Amino acid sequence: MKNTLIAPSVLAADFANLQRDIEMINNSEADWFHIDIMDGVFVPNISFGMPVLDAISRHAKKTIDVHLMIVDPDRYITTFKKLGADILTVHYEACTHLHRTLQAIKAEGMKAGVALNPHTNIDLLEDVIQDIDLVCLMSVNPGFGGQSFIENTYAKVEKLKAIIKRKNASTKIEIDGGVTSKNAKQLVDAGADVLVAGSFVFNAENPTQTIANLKNLTNF
Ligand code: DX5
Ligand code: ZN
Repeated sequence: MKNTLIAPSVLAADFANLQRDIEMINNSEADWFHIDIMDGVFVPNISFGMPVLDAISRHAKKTIDVHLMIVDPDRYITTFKKLGADILTVHYEACTHLHRTLQAIKAEGMKAGVALNPHTNIDLLEDVIQDIDLVCLMSVNPGFGGQSFIENTYAKVEKLKAIIKRKNASTKIEIDGGVTSKNAKQLVDAGADVLVAGSFVFNAENPTQTIANLKNLTNF
């Protein structure tokens, strides 16, 4: 039996009703809170920053999975720990010394994640895979919610799964962008462990039920 985790992306929540949406996730079958931090430099959009994450973590009762879409993430590792991050994911493309960054995240007591843009080759992680707790495969170009899923992601998941097995690592594979009930099962079949879903959950008439459906579809 699979244990696929569902991580609703708070980027798609209603920020004027943020507490309501956080409680919805708390009371649902969701496993993690996915938090997208954008700086307007690494990606062409700005989401929200420290005070908002601080407010979210005071109400969130599940694992806080922070996805940093920012340049020079090393500057903020300690800050994100203080703000309540349990998992801190940096972009491969934003780190000159990725191994050092991963060690710094772990030294703060967080799990270390690496996100890859759609064009970035999986093989680039081979020499560092044992140091990574979570690989976040971007299945859209980062920066915006509500985009459509890039089909090449399935092949990337399979390739990454093979590297993880060959290296005897325990890294989890997370998929981020355009996840819906249409691609969820196929992603898990390919080897995905965690599915992020933003607009599919929050634009649904019944977000709680939509999370439960995703959970059902992917745990078989
Ligand atoms: C995109 C973000 C995603 C986004 C997913 O840059 O990293 O986490 O919120 O949103 P959907 O599920 O709407 O594609
Ligand atoms: Zn994300």
